[in-house]
This record gives sequence, C-alpha cells and structure tokens, in this order.
Amino acid sequence: MTATSLPASLIPTLPGRYYTDPAIFGLEQARIFESMWFCAVRSSDLDKPGSFKSVQVGRESVIVVRGRDGALRAFLNICRHRGAKLCTDDSGRVERALQCPYHAWTYGLDGKLIAAPNLANMPDIDRTEYGLVKVHLREWLGYAWVCLADEPPSFESDVHGAVSERLGTLEAISSYEIADLAVGRRIVYDVRANWKLIVENFMECYHCATIHPELTEVLPEFTNGYAAQYYVGHGAEFGVDINGFTVDGNAGFDKLPGIREDQDRRYYAITIKPQVFVNLVPDHVIFHRMYPIAEDRTIVECDWLYSTEVVASGRDVTRSVELFHRVNVQDFDACERCQPAMGSRAYANGGVLSPSEHHIGAFHDWVTAKLAEADDRS
Ligand code: FES
Ligand SMILES: [Fe+2]
Repeated sequence: MTATSLPASLIPTLPGRYYTDPAIFGLEQARIFESMWFCAVRSSDLDKPGSFKSVQVGRESVIVVRGRDGALRAFLNICRHRGAKLCTDDSGRVERALQCPYHAWTYGLDGKLIAAPNLANMPDIDRTEYGLVKVHLREWLGYAWVCLADEPPSFESDVHGAVSERLGTLEAISSYEIADLAVGRRIVYDVRANWKLIVENFMECYHCATIHPELTEVLPEFTNGYAAQYYVGHGAEFGVDINGFTVDGNAGFDKLPGIREDQDRRYYAITIKPQVFVNLVPDHVIFHRMYPIAEDRTIVECDWLYSTEVVASGRDVTRSVELFHRVNVQDFDACERCQPAMGSRAYANGGVLSPSEHHIGAFHDWVTAKLAEADDRS
C-alpha cells in the first residue's frame, strides 16, 4: 500500500530501509549524532582529576576527562602522532596525563602535548597545535553533553527547547534539581534494534495497555493509548490507589524538595532528540542515553537518580527501579521484535501510524530533513 492510498486516519512510517541500510545509518551518524549536542556521560562518574570515560559519538570515539582544575573537557580519542587510539579502556583514571600506548606521546588533562620521546629534537612543534583535538562540551542536568560540529547548534534551542516544548516552560524541570541527584542504579541495555525504533516507541503509548501491565496500573490514563508526550505540559496522573512510582504502587521516597504541587503524583516524559529520554516522577528521575552502534544495534544506558540522602543512606531502591526496568525490557523486546521485519518486503514501503501515534510523523519528518542537510564530512 502506498502513502497516497492511505485512509485519512493513518499516516505512513518511514520505509523499512531507514532501519536496515548501513548507508542511511552512516548519514545519520554524520548529520545527526556528529552534528548535534550528544549527552555523553554523567558528570559525577568523573569524580576526580584524571578520571576519564570514552564514548562512541557517531563514528568517533570521544574521551571526556576531568582536569586538575576540576573542569570537564572532551577530546577526540586519537593520538596526534600516528593516530593510535589513545584510551582503549572505556573508563579509568590517570594520575596527570594521558599517554599513547604506541610511541608514548603524552598529553596533559587539558589536551596539550606535554612529553614525547626525543621531543627535544622537535623544538619547532607547537604543543597546543599538536595537542588532542578538542570537542565542544556543555554541562547540564549533571551530564556532560558534547558536540563534534565545528559550530555547534544552539544548546538553548535544541536541548533546552526540547524540554520547554514538552513541559511548557524550561523552569518546570528545575524543580527536580537533576544535577544534584545521585545515581542510585544504572542499567545498560544492549538493544538489537535501530535507534529510531526506540525513539518512536518512547514517543507513543498505543502499546502501553498491551505490554506494560505494571506501568498502566500506576498510570491508568496510559491504558487509553495517549502518551503523556501527546499533550504539552501534561503529566500522567498516578492512579487513586497508587502511593508511589514503584513496581507494586507502594510508597517510594519523599518527594524531591522542589516539586511543585501540580507536579506531585505525576509522570512526565521528555524526548531530547536525538538520544535522550527524561522521565520525571516526584521522588526520582529516570534518564536514558542512547548510543547508536549500528543500524540494528543501540546501547541504552539508563540512570535512576535519587536525592543524595536516599542514595547515601543505602535505602533499598529495588521496587522503584524495578518498575521502569520492566518497562525498558518490555519496550526493548518490542523494538527487537520489529527490527528483523524492517528488512522484509512486507515493510518495503513502511507501516502506518494510527491517530494516537501521528506525532511520530513529525519525528520522521525531522529525520528526513536532517538527512537532506548539507554536511562537509559525509
Ligand atoms: S601513535 Fe601515539 S605516540 Fe605514536
Ligand atoms: Fe513503552
């Protein structure tokens, strides 16, 4: 069936090849993940000078490291000498410098070249020019966001804008004081699905009644199929008998101190394109970051963030974590069930979006517009 013959209540999805074609994925890496702000690491994971993490951003490996001055910096994870990968570990800590394992060129935590065998024979090289290649970095919500573009897009319009567009105001997210929360649990999911299937799934709730029995128990309005993300400023209300955002609806923790009355007993979900989901409930925040690895594989790192008191006291967060962990597994299973079908002839022209999913059409338009943008690297 082609788009032109669709009944008025349906709109088309992207064709299947958008989820299976490595060339399209390569374009997405260049024009989306290497061009936009990308949420890379939780700042508190790099708690001491010399702590580093390396992350995959599009086709590049990026190191984020805490300097001796306490600031976070990001660099391409490539030695300027002959191009060896500098940090081969995903995370770790160095004392005062990053040393290349090949010929021992050594860089300060600010990226400057500080030592190399026979450096005295190269008196004419500029230590900054031959330092590590810097990547733009901004900290917000307690995360380091990086951007590989020479001229990054506006953080305010792209990242802040996504939040205010969804919540009605940017200020509404400040009640949760996300930068000051502590990581109570982190779960990393290796999802065998294209990143767009994960975004699309997160944006709609047409599937909630079918696959999320625990979530719809806590948020009964989700059984009607309309996601919280369908309405600006709307948070799904807890059911009358529900005492907390936990797997059994029992009480969780005290609400975070800044929560406004109209935010209490409500769940808000935000998609910050291209790779972040933020879930807000009164006593914690669930923060997803996606790392697209291949056209059919995405690593999702999910942080459950609580007040520092809850985490420091060692209180049991299991029932609280279990609710959204189940939601994640249910969602990612659904995405993995769709991924193989994307290559089927049945999906060559794509599928359809029902009325409660029509807003996903705007995401598809956004993706195709991004892919059509000029890019000097792809
Ligand atoms: S490639 Fe790094 S020191 Fe030679
Ligand atoms: Fe879901």
